[in-house]
Amino acid sequence: MSSFLFVTDLDNTLVGDDAALLELNQKLAAHREQHNSKIVYATGRSLYLYRLLAEAKSLLPPDALITAVGTEMYFDREGCAGNPRISNRGVNQQESQYDREWANILAQGWNRQEIVAIASQFTDLQLQPKSEQNPFKVSYYLAEAAAAEILAKLQAALKQEGFDIKLIYSAGQDLDLLPKNGDKGLAVQFLRRRWKIAPEQTIVCGDSGNDISMFEGQEKSLLVANAKPELLEWYAANKNEHNYLAKADCAGGIIEGLKHFGFI
Ligand code: GLC
Ligand code: MG
Repeated sequence: MSSFLFVTDLDNTLVGDDAALLELNQKLAAHREQHNSKIVYATGRSLYLYRLLAEAKSLLPPDALITAVGTEMYFDREGCAGNPRISNRGVNQQESQYDREWANILAQGWNRQEIVAIASQFTDLQLQPKSEQNPFKVSYYLAEAAAAEILAKLQAALKQEGFDIKLIYSAGQDLDLLPKNGDKGLAVQFLRRRWKIAPEQTIVCGDSGNDISMFEGQEKSLLVANAKPELLEWYAANKNEHNYLAKADCAGGIIEGLKHFGFI
């Protein structure tokens, strides 16, 4: 067994089956201890909402944390591998490092104020709570029935004003507007380069639309059995030998995938 980079979404992927999560946590903690494997969470949640979940579900402290659909990244204080891990209690913008290099990459081609002004013309879009907005992420609720039409129109309106940005729709309700250079998949690749970990030694796990970007790279990838329709549709159209659709839900599916790819 050798060291690997484990990256997982949280809601309905790592979290959702408490018994399986307990079993997976034991395996991951032991692997990290013995082989120096790395654990990274890549979530749509803000740091604030992440901390609530980490506390409620006793998540293992990650080696790095990607929040807000890849628009924020946190390392331990030293900012590189092998240093004391981010504690679930300790992660906040004051105490741990908000990665500036990543923020500079996101800033290219992004103008939050103008993007919000364009989106605010669409009355079907309801702004999500303030905690879920950040300098490089604007998030709305959008009902599924209206989604296809509004997404096409919004995309066209943004394009007309010269904005090439990402519109990511997840779970039939959440719409995230993100910089062209920002999403979970690009954040994982940034992290891999920084840590010098090969794609073959990396596994990414997810269940919904905001995870699709992680499935498009060369990394091994695992879809839990309870994946949302938008991810299953993507899988049906794009699957390749790197992708594995588990038979079990949530953490049970992750254990299955880790075994399938020979990581544990
Ligand atoms: C999380 C975030 C929300 C986002 C959604 C989908 O629920 O809190 O802002 O829209 O993930 O990415
Ligand atoms: Mg999820």
